Amino acid sequence: MQIVSYLVYLIASILFIFGIKKLGSPKTARQGNFLSSLGMFLAVVVTLLDQRVISYEYIILGIVVGSAIGSILALKVPMTGMPQMVGLLNGFGGGASALVAFAEYFKEADLGITFEISTLITIVLSILIGSVTFTGSLIAFGKLQELITGKVIKYPLQNPINIILILAVIVAGVFVVLDPTRIDLLYGIAGVSLLLGVLLVLPIGGADMPVAVSLLNSYSGLAASMTGFVLSNNMLIIAGALVGASGIILTLIMCRGMNRSLMNVVLGGWESAGGDGGGTSAGPQGDAKSVDAEELAMILDSVQSVVIVPGYGMAVAQAQHAVRDLTNILEKKGINVRFAIHPVAGRMPGHMNVLLAEAQVSYDKLFALEDINDDFPNVDVAIIVGANDVVNPAARHDKNSPIFGMPILNVDYAKTVVVNKRSLNVGYAGIQNELFFYPNTLMFFGSAKEAITKLNNELKEL
Ligand code: TAP
Repeated sequence: MQIVSYLVYLIASILFIFGIKKLGSPKTARQGNFLSSLGMFLAVVVTLLDQRVISYEYIILGIVVGSAIGSILALKVPMTGMPQMVGLLNGFGGGASALVAFAEYFKEADLGITFEISTLITIVLSILIGSVTFTGSLIAFGKLQELITGKVIKYPLQNPINIILILAVIVAGVFVVLDPTRIDLLYGIAGVSLLLGVLLVLPIGGADMPVAVSLLNSYSGLAASMTGFVLSNNMLIIAGALVGASGIILTLIMCRGMNRSLMNVVLGGWESAGGDGGGTSAGPQGDAKSVDAEELAMILDSVQSVVIVPGYGMAVAQAQHAVRDLTNILEKKGINVRFAIHPVAGRMPGHMNVLLAEAQVSYDKLFALEDINDDFPNVDVAIIVGANDVVNPAARHDKNSPIFGMPILNVDYAKTVVVNKRSLNVGYAGIQNELFFYPNTLMFFGSAKEAITKLNNELKEL
């Protein structure tokens, strides 16, 4: 049985690795998801058949209750609420790792087994990382759900206090390793780690939360991996390490997409962030020209190539289906339509890809920033749907701009730029966008779904 379970764990681990690889492209992502789920299913079945499981009642109860809550949540949560849902799940993962580490400690202590140093170290690390992840994720959830303020919260001696708490946990951990009977210290480590989770995430601005959630995701993987060492379970070690590594890579990709350092995000650096519409507009810079649906339809009727740039506004307005209809109408007129996807458009990684996939927009029409940017001078019309920061030319030349250096989509190089949003208000970074006042820019005001639907109706009449 032991050999069979090792073999199945190995197969499951390989399935995870291939699954993640296939998630790298939208074309193979479904297959990747299936492979990973299959790996997880095999791992769960083999673990349940393990001889160490002597009673199934609690396990079945847990599966029934957990599956029911999970299914209801997954069905109810809207796409825009996905970051907080993922945040909550990370938190539960971290909490579970900490509890399993405690359980293993009590079991070995009850059985009078002499603790190995490596087991003690990983028990302490599981409790530390798992607890930080648990409360940190709850705070991230609260901020994203707007249950607590999304503002950057700073308080006196913030960093020294955190450093002292981290040092205290390390010292207590060393004492536990030297004297495994010190259960009081283990509780202390859990308590301080829970506090640390709150204190570390509280300063991060609400709009930076997706980055924090991705980082916490990485922590939950590390906690699971540590618990794998505690339980001597290779599969858990590998799966946790995969989550830990992919979480940190994703975090860094998001930071690079915003031209920010991880430290800047973690220390709550971007104070103005978080205004998706209202906020600190620097005021209009000249006159913006506007266009209505009828005029825009006439302009589009005579062009050859169009690039659509979706952003956060398309997500909020749930305008992806209207945008898909626009694509179909333009293509029927023989116009070449492509989509330019910025890596941090929206509020979570792959946000635009998911929405467009939901609306059945074909993957081959989607182009990443580096694949389409050089082609904008050949584009007749760039239509921006609810995007703002990711097309702000200030990122290229204004050294004082908070987004200076962030790679942007060069839509302003297109012959005509059409920007659909409700007003001249700012986006996430809280800064005015000079693109709205460029001579080749036309503002198409309105909430994305209604505005694009109106445009579609006008186009159909031509
Ligand atoms: P933003 O710069 O946030 O701009 C979104 C715009 O959508 C707003 O200016 C708003 O203007 C408009 N909008 C809101 N509701 C709308 C509606 N119903 N119809 C039409 N437009 C609407 O979005 P972006 O260009 O996608 O950039 C994303 C930003 O989020 C970047 O700064 C990025 O760094 C940040 N961020 C992204 C991520 C990830 S992973 N994607 C994570 C963290 C932070 P009006 O109010 O005038 O309509």
